[in-house]
Amino acid sequence: MKLCISALSVVLVLLFVSAAPQLAAKNVKKPQAKVVRAVDLLSFDHYLKTCPQAEGIIQQITGDWIQKDFTLAASIIRLHFHDCAVRGCDASILLNHQGSERRAFASRTLRGFQVIDDIKAELERQCPKTVSCADILTSAARDATIIAGGPFWQVPFGRKDGRISISREADSVPQGHENVTALIEFFQARGLNMLDLVTLSGAHTIGRSSCSSFKYRLSNFNGTRKPDPSLNSMYLNNFLKKKCQNDLDLIYLDAITPKTFDTQFYSNLHKKLGLLSTDQLLKSDVRTGPFVAALASQPSLFESQFAVSMVKLGNVQVLTRPNEGEIRVNCNFVNA
Ligand code: HEM
Ligand SMILES: *[C@@H]1O[C@H](CO)[C@@H](O)[C@H](O)[C@H]1NC(C)=O
Ligand SMILES: *[C@@H]1O[C@H](CO)[C@@H](O)[C@H](O)[C@H]1NC(C)=O
Repeated sequence: MKLCISALSVVLVLLFVSAAPQLAAKNVKKPQAKVVRAVDLLSFDHYLKTCPQAEGIIQQITGDWIQKDFTLAASIIRLHFHDCAVRGCDASILLNHQGSERRAFASRTLRGFQVIDDIKAELERQCPKTVSCADILTSAARDATIIAGGPFWQVPFGRKDGRISISREADSVPQGHENVTALIEFFQARGLNMLDLVTLSGAHTIGRSSCSSFKYRLSNFNGTRKPDPSLNSMYLNNFLKKKCQNDLDLIYLDAITPKTFDTQFYSNLHKKLGLLSTDQLLKSDVRTGPFVAALASQPSLFESQFAVSMVKLGNVQVLTRPNEGEIRVNCNFVNA
């Protein structure tokens, strides 16, 4: 009997406790559904138990390759951008089959694939089927930035690899001839704002462009029979016209300090030394110009904001849920 009463009171208390918040909430507002965003499932300790050496291996092998060929630092950073820009950071850019992003026209000068393959092979030896290609590429881009003299940031892990890669989608990545509105919209669609756009374009402080990407500026620009007026004429006549003989010839994106991760890239724009039309337009457009001026004059702002914007880039549309994506065994192919 006593047991019955106390059991009943427990039930009553439970009923009251479970009903009370709902009653209260009804009068205030609709209870909020608890939404966990996919990006919140990334974490710094994702591989702590399953592959604690992952980040170190990535850093080691990335460093070895860049030591042998410094130009790979820029190429790896760009590869990460092209991955995240299409279907999010899911390593879809690495898939190597007919009609994949990697085979697109816009991907024709991407490099660094063998660095990622090399890292993946070592990680498969040490922690099979554990570390995603998307995480490898994100972490390697951070390591490449540091080696090039850029800032450090912590990389959250837990991205999975996508199974879809479509060439046509890769061709939507800006190629250098767009207007600023198109750039802003492209970034905005990926959760990146104008400050991110201008800051991440600062990656062009290192690396090179093939002449194919800007040769239309050198003569008969837009049918005017003249070069692009927003291009410095000394730079054009004494340098670019001589150095650009073939589409595949490579020119430094930062003409003054091409191998240093600094704010010279922004200062160059004030002298009409932007190699890509899109970079030069960032300076003249009223929406982005103030950011260019701020970053040109404040190296410490560029450093800290680059780190912030790269974390945002690495979080774009990530696949993190149990039913999403896979851990690829070979970064070039989806798992069988
Ligand atoms: C704002 C829009 C962007 C446009 C229009 C653009 C365009 C380009 C173009 C045309 C090239 C030269 C490709 C060639 O070889 O012909 C290039 C190279 C490069 N881009 Fe961008 N880019 C943009 C954003 C970014 C972002 C967000 C990053 C990274 C955070 C980035 C990093 C790089 C790097 C490092 C290179 C040099 C690659 C190398 O030396 O191999 N770019 N970009
Ligand atoms: C900018 O580019 C977009 C997309 O290519 C185009 O629709 C738009 O008309 C262009 N805007 C200007 C001002 O040229
Ligand atoms: C190229 O020409 C078109 C049409 O005359 C014009 O609308 C556009 O602004 C020009 N582009 C540049 C970058 O000057």
